[in-house]
Amino acid sequence: MMSFEVRPLSPVIGAEVVGLDLGGPVDDATFAALRAAWFEAGGLLVFKEQSLAPQAQVEFSRRFGDLEVHVAKRYLLPGHPEIYRVSTKKDAQGKAVGNPESGRYWHSDLSYLEPPAMASLLYALEVPPMGGDTLFANMAAAYDALSPPIRTMLSSMTAVHDYAHVLRLFSHGVRAHVGPGTLPSVRHPVVRPHQETGRATLYVNPGFTTHIEGLARHESDAVLNMLFEHAVRPEFVYRHRWSVGDAVLWDNRSTMHHAVHDFYGTGGVRHMHRTTIMGTAQ
Ligand code: SIN
Repeated sequence: MMSFEVRPLSPVIGAEVVGLDLGGPVDDATFAALRAAWFEAGGLLVFKEQSLAPQAQVEFSRRFGDLEVHVAKRYLLPGHPEIYRVSTKKDAQGKAVGNPESGRYWHSDLSYLEPPAMASLLYALEVPPMGGDTLFANMAAAYDALSPPIRTMLSSMTAVHDYAHVLRLFSHGVRAHVGPGTLPSVRHPVVRPHQETGRATLYVNPGFTTHIEGLARHESDAVLNMLFEHAVRPEFVYRHRWSVGDAVLWDNRSTMHHAVHDFYGTGGVRHMHRTTIMGTAQ
């Protein structure tokens, strides 16, 4: 077993793993310890000073499960369809090489699929001189902080998730990815037990959750807005300031994230490779 150090980044979410090269061999015992540290850190691990070639990123990510090929095909890395490019870079013809708008709203990756994504690994190749941070919220901690009557109310609720929801909410380019209606909507319990820790977790997000089944529209909006506001209270959130070489692994079953698109005035480029690990049926 290889040794590594785990340094918490906040009391409720996030830890930095020091002393592991994700591009090198990681034996099974080390990998198991890493997974345990990941859950202990609320589903968020940061690895700094990595040097991850696309194939190495794909291979490390595959240790967690099968990889998703994103629906937005134009942003996949040629030769490595498992890598989805999140990028403000343009090619020689002036075309975006990756999704320049990615994640600029709170969401959990692929919650619009059944089963939704387990995890994502985002690796920074270029970062702006400042800005372009990503915020992560611990949805299990948010759930725990709800009062018991609200937890009871939520326990029998099911929410609908739809990729097209984000297309309706935002008009800054997301629409170009896939046409609305390409994917059917899916249903998930509002409170899902985490598959590995068993911890009750809020599973709704502003990006893809359209409504709660069986409620009137105004009731559904009120409940969802209350949950969205609650879940991103500062005490549940870690803000990651990127450096080139950072690889961040998050658990989509227990976290939401939000990319901050505040860096355009800096003239800097933000260019990242994401692998997404598919979930398994609950
Ligand atoms: C994403 O939503 O997966 C991208 C997050 C980011 O660009 O920070």
